[in-house]
Amino acid sequence: MTFSRPFAIALLTTTCIFAGAVQADDPPSKGEQALKYRKSLYQVMAWNFGPMGAMAQGKVPYDAAEFAKRADRVALIAPMLSEGFPAETRNLPHSELKPAMWANRADFDAKMKNLVDRSATLATVAKTGDFAQSKAAFFDTADTCKACHDKYKNE
Ligand code: HEC
Repeated sequence: MTFSRPFAIALLTTTCIFAGAVQADDPPSKGEQALKYRKSLYQVMAWNFGPMGAMAQGKVPYDAAEFAKRADRVALIAPMLSEGFPAETRNLPHSELKPAMWANRADFDAKMKNLVDRSATLATVAKTGDFAQSKAAFFDTADTCKACHDKYKNE
């Protein structure tokens, strides 16, 4: 279906005005924005982590290029996460963060650093195309997800 140009412009303008009105009425707080940001990053990270896990577990055949591409993405996302945990995200509804994190920030940050470091190693190792090493580096990284979730994420 093709729209006439004036109709398309009218449609676009209406959409923009509507979006503007919603924003003016109900501006999301900095905390809500940060929560959305970190959840989105976790989603993107998990989306890319999954296929590597399937290969590492032998559920699908190992594809070195595919594995390396996804490892690069995870390594790119990991260092962006800590920005998603400002003080404004304390006690927000729809968050699975355990409040215990705020009293253990240094430990939480150290666990985040483990993810950053190990995902960087994973990306480097993945480029060699060595399955055994890539698999080991994958599980080292997966351990960092679990270590943090066990302590700081409500299931
Ligand atoms: C340093 C801590 C930490 C590490 C490391 C970590 N996570 Fe999380 N993750 C969390 C916390 C806390 C939440 C809950 C966020 C919230 O709801 O406020 C979360 C939430 C998630 C979510 C749900 C996002 C949503 O839409 O609600 C996914 C998926 C996820 N993590 C995947 C991973 C994967 C995969 C890894 C490792 C590659 C990982 N996480 C590593 C702390 C961590």
